[in-house]
Formats: sequence, structure tokens, C-alpha cells
Amino acid sequence: MKKKLVVLTGAGISAESGLKTFRDSDGLWEGYNVYDVATPEAWQKDPALVQDFYNQRRRQVIDALPNAAHRQLAALEAHFEVLIITQNIDDLHERAGSSNVTHLHGVITRSQSDLDPQLTYPITGWEIEMGTFCELGSQLRPHVVWFGEAVPMIQKAAEICSEADIFMLIGTSLAVYPAAGLIDFVPRLTPKYIIDPKSPDVKRYQNVIKIEKKATSGVAEAAGLLLNDLT
Ligand code: APR
Repeated sequence: MKKKLVVLTGAGISAESGLKTFRDSDGLWEGYNVYDVATPEAWQKDPALVQDFYNQRRRQVIDALPNAAHRQLAALEAHFEVLIITQNIDDLHERAGSSNVTHLHGVITRSQSDLDPQLTYPITGWEIEMGTFCELGSQLRPHVVWFGEAVPMIQKAAEICSEADIFMLIGTSLAVYPAAGLIDFVPRLTPKYIIDPKSPDVKRYQNVIKIEKKATSGVAEAAGLLLNDLT
């Protein structure tokens, strides 16, 4: 029976693929006020601005490639049951070959009905055009959880974390709840690998192994430690 390796990732794992993080110095939000592009109110006020913001981000995601950290996590599926929970809306984990990915904040490569968040559709190309409607007759919007909206996958993610034999936190500032609270569901004695050049505050947790490196080198180091433990 393979051990469960639960991995919670944030924008930092995609930084080396050229995708901006949110809260680093030149963070993505720097160009925009979050409340102008990533809230239901913004969508009501100026849907075309919101649509265009996510069309631009989708084009960047399509042009980006998974990096060695994404690929290493996929490769670990040969030795562990790897369950990925990501805050990211890119699809780089899937494109690297990971087979079990839970998107807490949605995924930018799909659209959703403006009336029913469960109704989602693949997007061909890079843009959702204003004036495209779903079968309910509502304007298609990005399949992304905006600030102030419910996070439908949080219960499933908490259950996954509660069963972790090994836990890995990669590239997240733990600034946004409820995602940031998932580490509290990880069993106290489960080893927790924290991979981030500027490690978030995890002082209150036990059995923490800090790897204060970028994701590509940090995940390689953690994988080496895990595979060593298997021999
Ligand atoms: N490798 C690993 N970690 C990195 C790298 C890198 N190359 N570069 C930056 N980081 C780290 C930063 O030190 C920081 O801790 O990644 C983290 C990025 O934090 P945020 O920008 O806050 O991104 P994230 O934690 O994913 O934000 C969570 O907030 O804005 C919302 O919905 C959005 O999902 C997002 C959520």
C-alpha cells in the first residue's frame, strides 16, 4: 500500500514557469486592484474588464510550461499515492502528468455558467468572448472562485489532508483562507515539508522540515529525502 503524499501548492510552484505570484514585489495583483477583477461585484460592474483580465491570464497559462517541480511531483506517483491540492488556477500539474489534482480556486482553462458554478465547460483557444452563453442562457465566465465566493472543494481537501502520511507545502504565503487553514487538518505527527524561499509562518506545527529554496530545487531535495526513507 503506497503512503499518501498530500501536496498543497500555491502560486510559487508556477513562478519558475514564468507565471507571476500574487504577493511578491512585482506580484500580479500589483497591476490590478483585486476588487476590480476578482470579485462577483467586479463581474456585475464591468464583466468585460474581468473577462479580459482572465483572457490575458489564460493566454499566459497556455504559453507556460510545467517546470521541474511539477514534473517531480508527477514522477513521485511511482512510489506514493500523490494527492495534489492547488490554489492555482493554471493546469500545469495536470500537464506535467499528475493524475489527482483538486483545484480549490477553479481552473482558468474552463468556463462556467454565471448562474450555476457546477456547470463548467472546456475552453478552446485562449478567450471567453462576451456574448457566449451557456444552455441556461447566462454569460459564460471564468471557472475561478473569486474573493467572497464559496470554495466548494474545501471539505474534500480537508478530508484529504486529514489522511496524509506525508505533507508538502509548496510556494504559498498561506495568506488566504480557507485554503490556508488546511494545514490544521494534517495529523500532528505527519512530517510536513515546507518548500518556499521565504517560508510562511508554520511555527505552531510539529514535525516540520523547512526547505527554504525555490520549488524546482526544493522539491528535488524533498523527493530525495522521501525516496531515501523508502530504501
Ligand atoms: N519557488 C517556491 N516558492 C516561491 C517561488 C519559487 N520560485 N517564488 C515565490 N515563492 C513563494 C513566495 O515566497 C510566497 O510565499 O510563493 C508564495 C506566493 O504567495 P502568494 O503570492 O500569496 O500566492 P498564494 O499563496 O498562492 O496566494 C493564495 O491568494 O490571491 C489569492 O486566489 C489567489 O490562489 C491565490 C491565493
